[in-house]
Amino acid sequence: MTGTAALYDPHADWYEEYVTSGGAREYSVRVADMIEDLLGPAPTDHARCLDVCCGTGVRATTITDLGWYPIGVDFSTGQLRHAANRLPVAAGDATALPVRAHSVDAAVCVLGHTDVEDYGAVVRDIARTLKPGGVFVHIGIHPCFCGYFADWSDRSRVILTPGYNEAVHSLEAWSPHGVRARIGAWHLPLAGLVDAVISAGLSISRLTENGPDELPDLLGIAATRT
Ligand SMILES: C[S@@+](CC[C@H](N)C(=O)[O-])C[C@H]1O[C@@H](n2cnc3c(N)ncnc32)[C@H](O)[C@@H]1O
Repeated sequence: MTGTAALYDPHADWYEEYVTSGGAREYSVRVADMIEDLLGPAPTDHARCLDVCCGTGVRATTITDLGWYPIGVDFSTGQLRHAANRLPVAAGDATALPVRAHSVDAAVCVLGHTDVEDYGAVVRDIARTLKPGGVFVHIGIHPCFCGYFADWSDRSRVILTPGYNEAVHSLEAWSPHGVRARIGAWHLPLAGLVDAVISAGLSISRLTENGPDELPDLLGIAATRT
């Protein structure tokens, strides 16, 4: 198992409020836009889309509105308590998904890679579950500009300090009010992130970035299982 299942449990009610109506509300709108852009409409009615590390299931509406049938997987019972109100869920580890091989049409992992030590293992298991032609969408914090090495306290002058190349876990957060100040984050440099997708045997078709004031804080990747 990667990470600690109970880590989010005491923060689940806070997380639900934070991403829906709290400080990350505008961020959630941008995340939803990126899901729409990279995942796109379902190819058939109710094609299945895994929502890996689904958290409180806050991305389910966007996935459903695109015509997909979402199924959430997370290992935090606190987070799943909220998610179960939004989509069918299963408790499980993202590196050993409780899902048959070649059984889903798509999978998304949104804001999950900073919570796992070995994101390559997560993407490998996602690739196992995808049907040939199935789509994987990764959306996460932009690894070049967000991390323990980035100071966003003055948004007009974001400061990066050395440390980018170190794939480590840190409680030092780029925002003092966000998730990472509570939970911490694994940092994975851009090359490691892209390599996790390629090494899983997936073909990358799109890379996209978005952020406030033209400094990207989100990076998205779309890839296909051949
Ligand atoms: C920052 S939250 C993202 C939740 C949701 N995807 C979103 O966009 O709001 C990260 C989630 O990943 C889950 N997680 C972390 N490591 C995991 C693992 N190895 N297996 C399953 N879930 C995991 C945590 O429990 C948490 O709910």
